[in-house]
Amino acid sequence: MTRGPIIAIDGPAGAGKSTVARHLAQHFGLLNLESGAMYRAFALKAILNDQDFDDAAALERLAAETSVTLRPERGGNRVLLDGSDVTERIRDADVTQGASRVSVHPAIRAWLVGLQRELGRAGGVVMEGRDIGTVVFPDADLKVFLDASPEARSQRRYEQNGGDPAGSDQRAISKELRERDERDRNRADSPLRPAPDAVVIDSTAMPLDEVLARIEELVRTHCANLRAPEHA
Ligand code: DC
Repeated sequence: MTRGPIIAIDGPAGAGKSTVARHLAQHFGLLNLESGAMYRAFALKAILNDQDFDDAAALERLAAETSVTLRPERGGNRVLLDGSDVTERIRDADVTQGASRVSVHPAIRAWLVGLQRELGRAGGVVMEGRDIGTVVFPDADLKVFLDASPEARSQRRYEQNGGDPAGSDQRAISKELRERDERDRNRADSPLRPAPDAVVIDSTAMPLDEVLARIEELVRTHCANLRAPEHA
């Protein structure tokens, strides 16, 4: 039996991975799985337990008594932490930085990578993250590494947050992105980098509809195992 396609979308924060993955999932009838939401959920668990993000052994013990579940829905993923819906809370700034910090620990990565492989095993998925094409699914049918300049990425984040200077100061957003980039790219285990066979797309000067059209075309050429979607 052939499995459905596996599409990996990797790249730094703010490059547009979520928009692309959501679009591909709807357009081709695939499940959209946000691996970052799993690191976020575990970071929230650490916060709720007053746990130091740098204490690898304590985090590993905490992980052993934690359940993280992704529930894909049409508009995005619902995220459950120990059975409670934390979908909105995990987008807050403290969790965002925490996710990048807990994700440096190999034991935490091994645990969540195992869950991600389980979720994607049957195929028919588009999974976004940092190490999907390099580590989670090295045999993915299509690997896209979506990049953009730090300035373009922080500007987009700022606009996503409503461009509200009171709630989301642009300098703070750009500092937060730089710190996460630095950590995600330089960690020893599974650093953010394009797989050798990834298609790298720099969207700095590309309008969104062009990015989407380019990736749709890549999906058609790379995924021979793509069944016609029930509702495109
Ligand atoms: O994609 P995101 O912003 O939700 O990810 C939050 C953090 O989780 C990110 O800064 C690094 C980590 N992460 C990771 O290490 N590996 C992944 N596959 C996804 C996210």
